[in-house]
Parts: sequence; structure tokens; C-alpha cells
Amino acid sequence: MTTKTTCPIPPNMTPYQQVHSYAEIEEIMNSNEFYQGGTPERRVFLGDTVLMLDGPLHDERKREFSSLFSKAAMASYEGDLLEPVIAQVLEDLRSHRRADGSVHTDLIPLIRMMLFRISARIVGVDGVDTPEKTERFRKLVEALGEAATAQWSVGDKDAVLRAGKETLRQLVDEFLSPSLDRRRCLVARHEAGEIAREDLPRDVLTLICLNHDDVIPEDDPHYCYTWREAGFFLVASSQTSTHTLPHVLVHIAEWIKEHPEDAAKVNDPSFLRKAVGESLRLHQTSPVKLRVASKDITLSTGRRVAAGEMVALLAPPANLEPEIFGEDADRFNPYRQVAKGQQPWGLTFGKGAHMCCGRWLVTGLFNRTDDKTGTEGTMVKIVRTLYAHGVELDPDNPPKLITATYHDAYESVPIVLRNL
Ligand code: HEM
Repeated sequence: MTTKTTCPIPPNMTPYQQVHSYAEIEEIMNSNEFYQGGTPERRVFLGDTVLMLDGPLHDERKREFSSLFSKAAMASYEGDLLEPVIAQVLEDLRSHRRADGSVHTDLIPLIRMMLFRISARIVGVDGVDTPEKTERFRKLVEALGEAATAQWSVGDKDAVLRAGKETLRQLVDEFLSPSLDRRRCLVARHEAGEIAREDLPRDVLTLICLNHDDVIPEDDPHYCYTWREAGFFLVASSQTSTHTLPHVLVHIAEWIKEHPEDAAKVNDPSFLRKAVGESLRLHQTSPVKLRVASKDITLSTGRRVAAGEMVALLAPPANLEPEIFGEDADRFNPYRQVAKGQQPWGLTFGKGAHMCCGRWLVTGLFNRTDDKTGTEGTMVKIVRTLYAHGVELDPDNPPKLITATYHDAYESVPIVLRNL
């Protein structure tokens, strides 16, 4: 039998009322009487970003960034950015072939390398153009991701935050500040009538300049809204998939061990799409979502939440509810039939006002649009390419789960590419 999924709850969640049920979590996330929550550590790098705003300000900010998630933008991220990077990364690996022709590597940095260019384009980071700079950018974004999610760190959260501030300083000096300066010039020329709006870059930093939110305080130039929003988008667009995607390969390997008759299915895109949906459902990017009640509220189930009270929404166990996903909901099943109106990944991309803006980039615009702008999604594309090159988990080096945080993710997944 495939391994059962478990969802440990971080100990810093014990003071809060915990909500386990899918229906209640959906009701809270869809309600405009609850607003975004989080422990104080969450605000250090995410405060006043689109993720943390609520009400009309949040609507306004979401509209400001909506052009980044148009169908055309997503088709371009996948076709113009992801595909060439995947090809380049695989080409670079060819020089590491062993005598038998196989290549041994680790899936985690490989995925980051594949996704970095999309992250840089969405945010508007220039100069990520040599192998050295790419590696430096990748490491900085990875370290910032740890700091931005410090509320889930196992160890000394203050030390994680201190290291994160130093990382942000380096990211600003080496990449973000020069990129912002270029966009300020372009936007100034646009405002002087020299450049048309459609000729400006389409990215977070340009949109911040157009909105005149690019205020950099003189007394603390490394720590302000512009860098927090840029940092949030960098982390949201890369760390999430880096955490989830390895689960797909691990689940498929386990499934095929038990169902050898499905071995050839690894080259079937519809099987892979179902495997990605199941992996997303079983493994969420954060162990808990937090919301605060704006007034005394009684849910339709009778649960009461007092004004100002923060509730811990245990979305990972809710995604395993047999009433919604069937008797074997706590296990991976790529043949699962999901009820009409239900997404295969359940609560994984959130619900309501804060639902993930990047979900179609990850899961694809398959069947949602015409051939010109249809996409298969970053996760299926990467997984499909890896199987086309004979990927297997390294039999001598099992995957290792992250231990420094409560994220349901791997820190290392050694793989072998047999057919590169
Ligand atoms: C496996 C991939 C991903 C997962 C599982 C995921 C999950 C989530 C979740 C659960 C939220 C809502 C958090 C909350 O309600 O508190 C969210 C928000 C968001 N995500 Fe994603 N995400 C993924 C990839 C991406 C990508 C590729 C982008 C592209 C930039 C992105 C951009 C965003 C943005 C901008 C928000 C904020 C939306 C808002 O607060 O209104 N995400 N994501």
C-alpha cells in the first residue's frame, strides 16, 4: 500500500482555536469577515504585500498585478522562459555523464534552476544572465524563502529573521536596486510620452513604479514595501513548486513499485496531470493558514470565533477528508475521480480573496483556452521532461525530508537520468 500522508501541526499553533474541517475552512477563507493572519515573524518579510492586505486595498493591489497572470503572460512564461531553461539545464548536465551514460544529480536545485527565469521575469530582475549570477540569485532567493516563512522554522526564529535581513540586503544591492533604477527611467520616459505603456516591461517592479509606490527610505534603504513585494513574488513563484514537485516523483515511484503495469504511464501526460493534482492535494506549501475574525462570528456549523481571535486552519488534514476525496483520501491514487465542481488539489491554492494568483501557471491552462495560449503547466512540463530522459530516484540515496522547518517538503531528492 502507498504510504499514508500525515500532517504534523507546528507547536506554535497550540494557542489558537484549530479548525480541521474542509467545509469550515472553506467558509472562513471565503468570508470577508475574516482577514489575513500570521505570527509576528510572518510580517517581517511579508507585511503590506498583496498576500497580507485585506479589503479594498487588497482588491486594488490584486488588480495592479493582474496583468502578470493573463493567459498570454502564462503562455509566454512557459513557452519563452521555462522551455529554453529546461533545455539549457539538461544540456549542462550532459557533461556530467558517467561511463554508463547516466547522470546523477539532485532534484531540488534542478527545479530551482528551471524556475528561476520565470521568477526573475515576473518580478523584473535583470542581470541573471551568467551561470555565476544565476547560481548567486538562486541561492539568495532560496535563503529569502526560509526567512519569509520563518513562522514554520523549527529552531531559533530570530536567527532565521536576522539572516533573512542580510539576504534581502544582498539581493537588493546585487539585483533588485539596479533593476528598479532601470524601470524608474523607463516609467519616467513613458510618463513623458516617449514610450507607450505596452512597450514597458510587464513585471512587479515596473507596476510598482507606475503606481508610484517605489519609495525607498533613506534611513533604511534595504527594507521597505518595494523589496518586500518583490521578495514575496520571488519566493511565491519558486519555493512553492520546489516544495511540491519532488513529491510527484516520489509518489509515482512508489505507485509503480506497487503497480508495475503502469510503468509506461510516466510518458502519458494525462496520467502525469492526475499525479500532479494528487501530489498537490496531499502536500501543501504551508502546514497551517491563519485568519483573524473582524467581529464575533458564528459559522454555519455553530463554531464561534470572537472578534480579533486568530484561528489556525489545518488545511493539509482537511484535504484528506474521505467525505470529499473518497475512502483512500490519505493515499496517492492517480485514478481518483474528483466530484464535479471540486478541484483535484482541494484547498492547496487557498480559497476566496487570497486564492493563489499563480495556480494556472503551475497547473496549466489545459482545455481552458485555444491552442495558441494553452499551456500544460510548469509542474507537468518539468515532470514530463524528466521522464522523457529516464528519471528515476537514486536507488542508493533515498530522499531526505526537510528538518529545519515544518514544511512538508524534501531538502534533497537524489535522482538518476538514464537517458540524457
Ligand atoms: C505549487 C505551487 C503553488 C502553491 C501550492 C501556491 C499556494 C498558494 C496559497 C495557498 C496562497 C494563499 C495563501 C493564503 O490564503 O494565505 C497563495 C497565494 C499567492 N500565490 Fe501561490 N502557490 C503556488 C505557486 C505560485 C506561483 C508560481 C506564483 C507566481 C507568482 C504564485 C503567486 C501567488 C500570489 C501573488 C499570491 C497572493 C494572492 C493574494 O493574497 O491575493 N503562487 N499561493
